[in-house]
Amino acid sequence: MRRSFEWQGHWFPQGRRVLLDLYATNHHPQLWPEPEQFRPERFIGWRGDSFSLIPQGGGDHFTGHRCPGEWLTIELMKQAVSNLTCAMSYRVPPQDLALDLARMPTQLPSGFVIDGVRRAE
Ligand code: HEM
Repeated sequence: MRRSFEWQGHWFPQGRRVLLDLYATNHHPQLWPEPEQFRPERFIGWRGDSFSLIPQGGGDHFTGHRCPGEWLTIELMKQAVSNLTCAMSYRVPPQDLALDLARMPTQLPSGFVIDGVRRAE
């Protein structure tokens, strides 16, 4: 912190380092009921909010430090999902899909393994 301040009963002294917990915010049950459930429909009609879904930082891209690569990342993810669901067929062999959240960045021990990859007909 560049200067001391109090926020919601918490005291932040000058010089204290603070890490924004992206994972906990994105899984906070008050913001996201049943956060572990894959429910893409929860975003139907969602108007966006700079402080609740923050995989690439919170706040405003233009006045803060929110990731400027966010729009590019979203476009790449849309293309990847389209490829994985429409453009190809493949198998997902048995593998350890548990993520080690103590790792940064986290990833599957073996990566995500697919085989039998074919172009969709
Ligand atoms: C999955 C992909 C990505 C994730 C999860 C991610 C996440 C983040 C996070 C959490 C921050 C810090 C935000 C903050 O300090 O409040 C950040 C900053 C930044 N990201 Fe990304 N990012 C991704 C992709 C990218 C890409 C593709 C680019 C560039 C093409 C990029 C460029 C940057 C830059 C330059 C900053 C520093 C911004 C600043 O401090 O003003 N990121 N990113």
